[in-house]
Formats: sequence, structure tokens, C-alpha cells
Amino acid sequence: MLLSLLILSLLIFPSTAVTTTIGFTYSPAVNSPPADHVVTTLQSLKIPTVRLLNPNPTLIRAFSYSNISLLLTIPNDLVPSFASNRSSATLWVYNNVLPFHPRARISLISVGSDVISSSLVSDPSTTLIPAMQNLHHALLDLGIHTVSVSTTFSFIHVITTAFPPSSAEFQEPVNSLVIRPVLEFLEETNSSLLMNVYPYNVYRLHGEIPVGFALFQEGPFNFRDDVVTGVRYHNLFDMMVDAVIAAMAVSGYENIPLILTETGWPSNDGESQLYAEKYIQGLVSHLKSGLGTPLRKEGAAQAYIYQLFDENTESNDQKKKKNLSSQGETEQYWGVMYPNMTMKYNINFNNAHQNSRMLALLVPSIYFLLLLVALDR
Ligand SMILES: *[C@@H]1O[C@H](CO)[C@@H](O)[C@H](O)[C@H]1NC(C)=O
Ligand SMILES: *[C@@H]1O[C@H](CO)[C@@H](O)[C@H](O)[C@H]1NC(C)=O
Ligand SMILES: *[C@@H]1O[C@H](CO)[C@@H](O)[C@H](O)[C@H]1NC(C)=O
Ligand SMILES: *[C@@H]1O[C@H](CO)[C@@H](O)[C@H](O)[C@H]1NC(C)=O
Ligand SMILES: *[C@@H]1O[C@H](CO)[C@@H](O)[C@H](O)[C@H]1NC(C)=O
Repeated sequence: MLLSLLILSLLIFPSTAVTTTIGFTYSPAVNSPPADHVVTTLQSLKIPTVRLLNPNPTLIRAFSYSNISLLLTIPNDLVPSFASNRSSATLWVYNNVLPFHPRARISLISVGSDVISSSLVSDPSTTLIPAMQNLHHALLDLGIHTVSVSTTFSFIHVITTAFPPSSAEFQEPVNSLVIRPVLEFLEETNSSLLMNVYPYNVYRLHGEIPVGFALFQEGPFNFRDDVVTGVRYHNLFDMMVDAVIAAMAVSGYENIPLILTETGWPSNDGESQLYAEKYIQGLVSHLKSGLGTPLRKEGAAQAYIYQLFDENTESNDQKKKKNLSSQGETEQYWGVMYPNMTMKYNINFNNAHQNSRMLALLVPSIYFLLLLVALDR
């Protein structure tokens, strides 16, 4: 009977409800509303986490007492000075973290973003790790032990393939020169791998992919099989996440948590606005389902939708993204919210899906329990 009770408790709490924490990337644009209004709106939407690109003290202060956790991204142009000079990392922490910690819940700091394809970091293989180490030690020296340090990579620049995911690896030579040392650092310091993952970009580069497969839509052709693992994939997002997991395993670091620092779908008018809505709705309900991915049942630890507001002042990264995708097209917008802070898309952030899954698991579990009780007699 004890055994039955034990099994019952396992079945009633089947996955201990591990779901991906969903947030937004936020970088204030010229016409976006004041930061404290944005924070209030995010709180009312119960958004648990926000990624700040190019953060500054005023912006970070606005999140004080909000209980919204923050992922800060240090701009690429600071990476060389962080690497060559611990004091510049200390100065940054002194200005951007120390005054607000822990009232603003800073959880992680990314040293640069996609530095391997940035012209601002001339030799990432010699600068990235020292910059990360200097930041890590600067935090510890100032008595801050709860903030992790990492850096952000971009799927299309570091992963060899998404088809099939099980054969994906990190690209050489960037793997040996940069990624492996980073993974080692992340494991030593209990941090997470950060990756920008855009099914949109892979879809644009591979004309044979049905758009529904990229947009989480069910349909007769919306699947791909990985013949090596025998897994059937029903969306491009899972394939890309599992390609990252497989590449980590090949490098011998399969247990490091994965955070998806950017994912999203741009829109202009008409059809692509519909696509963007479908992608974001599909993404949110997929992540809320708690199903994880075939190769990692807990899925990504966090995912940040790119991005909260359309940007008028573009980062280099965003220009590049536009370039990749805008051949012959009009301007693209990545924001999910208008400047008046209403959502462009109808996104359901509640847990309806998760509940229906719990129920779906619970009903067969009860039959199983009855069977066990019968066998026990
Ligand atoms: C703050 O957020 C954490 C995790 O996001 C949550 O567990 C906790 O209940 C929140 N606290 C308050 C006071 O809302
Ligand atoms: C190191 O960084 C600090 C703070 O930014 C600066 O004052 C100092 O001049 C730098 N030292 C060198 C050798 O670059
Ligand atoms: C590693 O991080 C996780 C979550 O961030 C935390 O629960 C755990 O205690 C940490 N372990 C160590 C050894 O710091
Ligand atoms: C955009 O693409 C054009 C040609 O396709 C190239 O010359 C230019 O350098 C690219 N710009 C950026 C910012 O990547
Ligand atoms: C917010 O702005 C959008 C786009 O300009 C507009 O369509 C919408 O009606 C506005 N909502 C409110 C509540 O003002």
C-alpha cells in the first residue's frame, strides 16, 4: 500500500509543473512610454522576467520592488575593456548593479550578445572569457553572490544544422576557440547557456519548410522525423532547441540550463502580422504546456520574446536581422506592444493548456492507481 501511495503522489504531481518562464526583451525606443509605466503594465500582465538590452541605472531602478527578474545584457563595445581591465567591470557593477541589488531582482548578466559576429569585439577567443571572469569576480568582490554571468550566442551563427537535431554540433573553429571555454565557465559557475533562436530565420533560408511547421500549426505536412533518434518533431522551434541540446551533449556539457534570450516573428502589415500573432501564440502555449522538447523534458529554463516595443533606434543586431530578412520587403517590426501599451496580438498568458494537460495525465493515473490497489490485495 505504501508503494501505491508513493506512486499516487508521483502521478498527481507528474512533472512538478516545470515550465519555461516567459518574458520579453525590452529596450526603450524614442517613442516608448516611461519605464515606470512599462513596469506597472508588465506587473499587471504578471510577466515574471525581462531582458534589458543596453541597460542603464535609470532603467534598472524602475524595476525596483517589482519582483520582475532581470537579465541584463552588456553592450558589445564594453567587452574589450572588461577583458583588459577588471576595474572597468567593477565600475560597471558599481553603477548598474550595486545601488539596486537586491531591490531590483537582477538574476543574470550577459557579457555581450553574439560577440562572435560583432565588429566591436575583434578577437572574442582572447577577450570573451577574461571579460566574463572579470565581471564574475567584480560581482563577488562587491559581495554579490546571486547574479550569474554568461554571454549570448545566436543559433544561426554557431549551430551547424537543425536537420536532424541529433546531428547538430557547434561550428568550428568557434567551438574550440570560444564556445567550449564558455561552457566550461558556465558549468564551473553554475550559470546558463544563452541562445537567440529564430525559427523565422531558418524558415526564410529553407524554402521547403512549410510555414505552418514554423508557426506551431498542426497540419498533414507539419512534421519532421529525426531518423537517428526516431523522434517526430511537430514544430521547428523544438528542432532548433534540440539541436542546441545535441550540440551541448557533443561538447560534453549537456546539463547546463538553456535560456532562449531572443525569439520572435516580425510583422509589417497584413499577412505577416497574422504570422507573428500565430508564432507568439503558438510559442506561449507550447512553452506553457510543460512538455519541454524531445531531448530535454524540462525544456528551456526561460524564453524572452523579442521584443516588447518596436524600435526606432536600431541596435546593430537588429539591423543585421532586418538585412537578412528584408530583401525586397518593407520595414519590419518586432514589437508585440503598441506605444500605448496595448498588446498588438491576442496572447493568452494564463495556464489553460497546462491544466488540461494535468487533467489528461491525471485521468489515466487514477485508473492505474485502481489497478495497483487491486493488485495489492
Ligand atoms: C516573486 O517572484 C517569484 C518568482 O518569480 C515568486 O515565486 C514569488 O511568489 C514572487 N513574490 C511576490 C511577493 O510576488
Ligand atoms: C581601467 O578601468 C578604469 C575604470 O573604467 C579606468 O579608470 C582606468 O583608467 C582603466 N585602466 C587602464 C589601464 O585602462
Ligand atoms: C545553481 O543554480 C541553481 C538555480 O539557479 C540553484 O538552485 C543551485 O542552488 C545552484 N547551485 C550551486 C552549487 O550554486
Ligand atoms: C546588408 O546587405 C547588403 C547587401 O545585401 C550589405 O552590403 C550590407 O553590408 C548589409 N548590412 C548590414 C548591416 O549587415
Ligand atoms: C493603441 O494603439 C493602437 C495602434 O496605434 C490602436 O490601434 C489602439 O486602438 C490603441 N489602443 C488604445 C486603448 O488606445
